[in-house]
Amino acid sequence: MGKRKKADKPTMADLADRHALYERAVQEPEVDVEFAIDTFRSEFARRPFVLREDFCGTAGVCRDWVRAHPRNIAWGVDLDRETLDWGQTHNVDPLPKKSRRRVGLVHGDVRSALTDPADVVMAQNFSYFLFERRPDLVAYFRACHEHLGKTGMLLLDAYGGPASVARMSEETEYDDFSYVWDQDQFDPVQQRATCYIDFRFPDGSKLERAFTYEWRMYTIPEIRDALADAGFADSKVYWEGTDPESGEGDGVYTQAETADNDEAWVCYVAGFKR
Ligand SMILES: C[S@@+](CC[C@H](N)C(=O)[O-])C[C@H]1O[C@@H](n2cnc3c(N)ncnc32)[C@H](O)[C@@H]1O
Repeated sequence: MGKRKKADKPTMADLADRHALYERAVQEPEVDVEFAIDTFRSEFARRPFVLREDFCGTAGVCRDWVRAHPRNIAWGVDLDRETLDWGQTHNVDPLPKKSRRRVGLVHGDVRSALTDPADVVMAQNFSYFLFERRPDLVAYFRACHEHLGKTGMLLLDAYGGPASVARMSEETEYDDFSYVWDQDQFDPVQQRATCYIDFRFPDGSKLERAFTYEWRMYTIPEIRDALADAGFADSKVYWEGTDPESGEGDGVYTQAETADNDEAWVCYVAGFKR
């Protein structure tokens, strides 16, 4: 074999791990876990112990849930074996043995996979938007209701605002890569969006369409109505405050029944089984 030609040198994109990049650019599982525990405690005046993380992907929320309390137990459910295996290797196996034993990753469909009755079911990063027909969304919420114990909370996030349905792409720079959120198509008849995540690297290489999303952009009232139809006793919306200096979100979510028409927003929606 001859010397490796310069052209054969792997690019930064060739060497990149799309799950690691996704976790750095998109997720803040410790924030979601803290919010879930605080909200549950204020609603039920007790601590939640059992979490079911639906659409868990790499199971970052499961990891941070078991870190939050020595009695906490987390079940993660996802359809994609490769993503679950990555999560097991990078997020679960490195935990101390006692914590690791309290995480179970289940390869299955969120609508049918069985786990312990949960205090909290979480579905983050708008994953339930993939149920594009309303009956499928209600059926999923009904399954969540069944996966909770006698009482409990389903915690979702939601995303919207005028900019969320605009054709646009937004680039966020990190030290060693940039993250591109590409809202490629929106169909107002179906209320359906196609979005991609790309990663770009300082050497000019790219991971294009590293992740693809086909979503129905449900409105908050549609989500709350579907929760009610699925049997949840009530639901609450938690809206992010605004930092007066930057005009950006301040990371503090409080219950709201009305809000300003922000260009783009992410909020939490919780359904309660009482
Ligand atoms: C948008 S990712 C969300 C990952 C993670 N929850 C997060 O917050 O970033 C959606 C995940 O849902 C999984 N998925 C899609 N449909 C599913 C289903 N019916 N049951 C279980 N997992 C599903 C995919 O494999 C993928 O890992």
